[in-house]
Amino acid sequence: MTATIDLRSDTVTRPSAGMRAAMAAAEVGDDVYGDDPTVNRLEALAAERFGFERALFFGSGTQSNLAALMTHCGRGDEYLVGSEAHTYKYEQGGAAVLGSIQPQPIDNEPDGTIALERIARAIKPDDVHFVRSKLLALENTIGGRVLPPQYLHSVTAFAHDRGLATHLDGARLFNAIVKLRLAEREAVLGFDSVSLCLSKGLGAPAGTLLLGSRDFIAQARRWRKALGGGMRQTGILAAAGIFAIEHHVAGLAEDHANAEYLAAGLREIGLAVEEPQTNMVFVALPAERVAGLAAHLDSAGVLASIGVRTRLVTHRDLTREDLARTVRLIGGYFERR
Ligand SMILES: Cc1ncc(COP(=O)(O)O)c(C=O)c1O
Repeated sequence: MTATIDLRSDTVTRPSAGMRAAMAAAEVGDDVYGDDPTVNRLEALAAERFGFERALFFGSGTQSNLAALMTHCGRGDEYLVGSEAHTYKYEQGGAAVLGSIQPQPIDNEPDGTIALERIARAIKPDDVHFVRSKLLALENTIGGRVLPPQYLHSVTAFAHDRGLATHLDGARLFNAIVKLRLAEREAVLGFDSVSLCLSKGLGAPAGTLLLGSRDFIAQARRWRKALGGGMRQTGILAAAGIFAIEHHVAGLAEDHANAEYLAAGLREIGLAVEEPQTNMVFVALPAERVAGLAAHLDSAGVLASIGVRTRLVTHRDLTREDLARTVRLIGGYFERR
């Protein structure tokens, strides 16, 4: 049966009709030569909005993060990172594997932050035994949680004080911006570089922007080429990115409201649900019912990553009725003993 309701991630969103029209009409050129006017327009627009000197367009968030880490850190340097962070846990260890950069994972607190005391303890002294601690990398949102602006202000000042640069994996930064009604520049204050995905809740088929200073982006451009990320007539993708930024950001508020709606429905049928902050709903399920529920939903055309801590993600391709149907299906399953 064809899946009609996909709650696995917001990366499953498909380009809207307007986005496809913008892609079809995009003016293009060879971007490795810097000749693609649409890519140049997207990069200039993002740099200006977020208050950075330059932006660079990548095909994926993994590649953008990796190029950023490799630009901040050299062989034998280390980056400090939350143990739950995407760059550390879900990107094939690229920093270590391809960048010769040692990751220093630090436990995230329940709210997704990393405590300043833990960071202080993890920074290595200047000693022949140790690698050089160079960078602090954070993620916002992280597991659907929004990092408080006051925390970001303190932690980035703290890192800079101790000689660390700061990178933000902002794959879902627009969710935080919409949730807290922040200005884009406010959301990135204190960061030396930011990676910003357009292919999650914003609905673009691919594309991530790396933001930084002129020199930083010049070096990141070299790493992008080394990583095989120099693309040619990629204005077709950049046009989707421009459309996403101009037309799809406000819609994230609806994804957040839908997450609350879904959470409330699941609570009503007796499940333990964490309060969603953005577009991710986490539900605790009894271990012995996990496999049965996964099969039950699958057979009804609902795709979800079911586990003892199930994550359900709302996005622009889901309607309230899809969510109500999901709740009914889950409720029906738990009624059966
Ligand atoms: C927080 C976070 N960072 C980075 C990425 C990597 O993005 P991509 O899948 O485009 O490589 C993801 C992907 O889901 C993500 O969730």
